[in-house]
Amino acid sequence: ATAEIVTIDGPSGVGKSTISRKVSAALGFTYLDTGAMYRGVACYLEECGVDIGDETAVAKALANLDLQLLPAKDADSDVGVIICGKDVSAVIRTPQMSMAASAVSKLQPVREKLTAMQQQAGSKGRIVAEGRDTGTVVFPEAAYKFFLDATPEERARRRVRQLHEKGQIVDETEILALTIERDKNDRERSLAPLKKADDALLIDTTEIDITEVCGRVLAAVKAKR
Ligand code: C5P
Repeated sequence: ATAEIVTIDGPSGVGKSTISRKVSAALGFTYLDTGAMYRGVACYLEECGVDIGDETAVAKALANLDLQLLPAKDADSDVGVIICGKDVSAVIRTPQMSMAASAVSKLQPVREKLTAMQQQAGSKGRIVAEGRDTGTVVFPEAAYKFFLDATPEERARRRVRQLHEKGQIVDETEILALTIERDKNDRERSLAPLKKADDALLIDTTEIDITEVCGRVLAAVKAKR
């Protein structure tokens, strides 16, 4: 394969971030968290007071967007985000901001801007991109594509555990409802909906742990390399 690009897509709470960080470390590739970018934009538009129902206003605000990603400190930490010089790394990780990110991710000017930034970041290859549309829209030519899935109940449990580790106390029933709603938004939108690329390898992670998933991803990459 020419540009070595790994794409890892799937619904929320499936373990994409942890797995992507571990896989990128094992391969010595850069990790690109595209969800962090949508979260950053949601935060930015909120701070600017932009009405997200007004696509012209959204497009105008995006022209002044200055978004930078801070690399994850280790395999257990999230990628950070700096918006116009302000560190929003913690605020973007709340359940509220997850829903806000899902709402702005429907908008054409937002997708256009972030897709271009992501393609730029991956232009030299050796990247592990993680999100909802990295295998279908952002990097359709990627050599190694994966789609992770798990039941909504298992994904909600994983989310709750993650949020607890960050010190956020949340209700599991509420997180399950939000998980289902967010997936529905992401699967049913018209632009770049969440779906498995035809040539992606599907891994159901419901019954298998992170080490096992990483092992399968790395084995599949190795077999094709
Ligand atoms: O992956 P994460 O949960 O951080 O993503 C937050 C939201 O950003 C998703 O629910 C989805 O609406 C949006 N997103 C997207 N396309 C991507 C990555 C994330 O629409 N490639």
